[in-house]
Amino acid sequence: MFERLVGIDLGTVNVLVYVSGRGIVLREPSVVAISIRDNKIVAVGQEARDMIGRSPESIEVARPMRDGVIADYVVTEAMLRYFIRKVIGRSQLFKPRVMISIPRGVTSVESRAVHDAAVQAGAKEAYLIPEPLAAAIGAGLPIGTPTGNMVVDLGGGTTEAAVVSMNDIVVWSSVRVGGIRTDEAIMAYVRKKYNLIIGEQTAEEIKLTIGSALPLSEELRMEVRGRDERGAPDGSARPRPGRRPPEDHFADVRRDHRGHVRTLVRDHRRDPADARKDPARVGRGHHRPRHGVERRRRAASQH
Ligand SMILES: Nc1ncnc2c1ncn2[C@@H]1O[C@H](COP(=O)(O)OP(=O)(O)OP(=O)(O)O)[C@@H](O)[C@H]1O
Ligand SMILES: [Mg+2]
Repeated sequence: MFERLVGIDLGTVNVLVYVSGRGIVLREPSVVAISIRDNKIVAVGQEARDMIGRSPESIEVARPMRDGVIADYVVTEAMLRYFIRKVIGRSQLFKPRVMISIPRGVTSVESRAVHDAAVQAGAKEAYLIPEPLAAAIGAGLPIGTPTGNMVVDLGGGTTEAAVVSMNDIVVWSSVRVGGIRTDEAIMAYVRKKYNLIIGEQTAEEIKLTIGSALPLSEELRMEVRGRDERGAPDGSARPRPGRRPPEDHFADVRRDHRGHVRTLVRDHRRDPADARKDPARVGRGHHRPRHGVERRRRAASQH
């Protein structure tokens, strides 16, 4: 009888669950909806995310993991339990072994909470692995060798860089800027230019559909829906004359993202330890703007 193995990427924006022999079986936002009155969880994952901006005041929709750390570990625990149960069912017959990648910055108390939640949810055994290490393995880097391998993970809440060598993390650093920052800039832009209030989800959709890290030869367009700032139920999104946002509203965000990655890479390269010489650089994460980031990355790595 073969054993089932489960791998979980406990990200601050998305949770991914992998089951051996089946592949990735679950990919849902790390969002939880809680009823304020009795402190009960009413929805988790996509269902909770769909409630953002639509739920009554008595329900709070929150991300229990923020900025690459576990902000509320009681809720994180509940969320994890929900996802594990969803994947393995309630049967206690075939308990799987579960490996969970957690942000490098979590404390030992938080790690324990995550570990215990997995066991409570039905894991036979639970192992934790720091995200950068999991990322390096996922990217196929030779992490067992005494050479240094650098991983840069562009996440939702954070951007992390780590040098991995001999199956361990040699140096690591993180900045609290990630893909969400771009979504916020898009929300602000649409509001300024079109008087339209859009939600996080719509902003992300815009980013994924027409966003670009480099100027495009032809501008892309898409239609979005939101709430008209002046009270009309559905904004027809005419550019507001006179109060136009600066020509390139996103320059700051791009500069931020680029600057952080550059600083992280430079800091680690300067490090004199043997293991850190000649780092192979690999980008990871979903946060690869569809258009242009590869080119941008190649150009940057030539310096
Ligand atoms: N094609 C893309 N272009 C640009 N950004 C993208 C793309 N695909 C995903 N993203 C962004 O990447 C971020 C999510 O990345 P990911 O799922 O790796 O985060 P996470 O692992 O949950 O976060 P963290 O690592 O910070 O805990 C989101 O902000 C998402 O909008
Ligand atoms: Mg991640």
